[in-house]
Amino acid sequence: MTDLSHPPLPGALPDKRQVAASFSRAAASYDSVAALQRDVGSELLGRLPSALMPRRWLDLGCGTGYFSRALNSTFPQGQGLALDIAEGMLSHARPLGGAEHFIAGDAERLPLQDGSCGLIFSSLAVQWCADFPAVLSEARRVLQPGGVLAFASLCVGTLDELRDSWRAADAMVHVNRFRPFSTYQQQCAASGLRVVSLEQRPHVLHYPDVRSLTHELKALGAHNLNPGRPGGLTGRARIVALVQAYEQLRQAQGLPATYQVVYAVLEKPL
Ligand SMILES: C[S@@+](CC[C@H](N)C(=O)[O-])C[C@H]1O[C@@H](n2cnc3c(N)ncnc32)[C@H](O)[C@@H]1O
Repeated sequence: MTDLSHPPLPGALPDKRQVAASFSRAAASYDSVAALQRDVGSELLGRLPSALMPRRWLDLGCGTGYFSRALNSTFPQGQGLALDIAEGMLSHARPLGGAEHFIAGDAERLPLQDGSCGLIFSSLAVQWCADFPAVLSEARRVLQPGGVLAFASLCVGTLDELRDSWRAADAMVHVNRFRPFSTYQQQCAASGLRVVSLEQRPHVLHYPDVRSLTHELKALGAHNLNPGRPGGLTGRARIVALVQAYEQLRQAQGLPATYQVVYAVLEKPL
């Protein structure tokens, strides 16, 4: 079984090329397993201020472009930009349309002009950015006054069932760690953007078995990139220990996997 999960600890810099390669490889399988991602992005869309009418919007970390197409339907008068660090995701998204331009780029160093966007929408991408203050600072630079940054991300508590179950098997880092919610609060408060709303909400998914969960993480491209992750294949004895520990958590609907989702809407002051 491959060891998989989510994004890296702030301070333990991820290799962006690895992130990009991992998501590029997952582009073809991503949509078939992205139910949580669709729920979260739809919820984020519903949180956009009702009066918002951006002339240009940016889907930051657009992946397969599902929400670029949704944003295009919501704001048909606006020009759409879809940006991602993974070329494979952009190749998948581009023929499906939705945005006028599909751009390869890094959320921490946006290749966009100052004050050029009325909305930056980003669903489940910034947890991959080790330097979140840089993402906020770039958003502030690229937004026009009155513009909105709406993002959904993951925080501490995400995939804890998998993390705790792995602990029964060995001492290695199998599941990436996440920023605490309090760090999102502090960094958003210090960003120079006005915090319109910022909250944490758990989403709990259920799986028939551990393998279904780890396969889904792989199909999403959400590989564990932490320093300390196991190098090769994982031994059978450790897998058995993992499965036994996770089975203790079984509920009527199956094995629970909790995602602690951060929803934020910020505005650049006029
Ligand atoms: C879990 S997917 C979410 C995709 C899409 N927003 C959705 O909701 O379906 C995360 C995406 O963020 C992208 N990503 C990760 N780090 C990034 C960075 N530093 N800059 C831009 N995109 C990044 C990945 O390549 C991947 O496509």
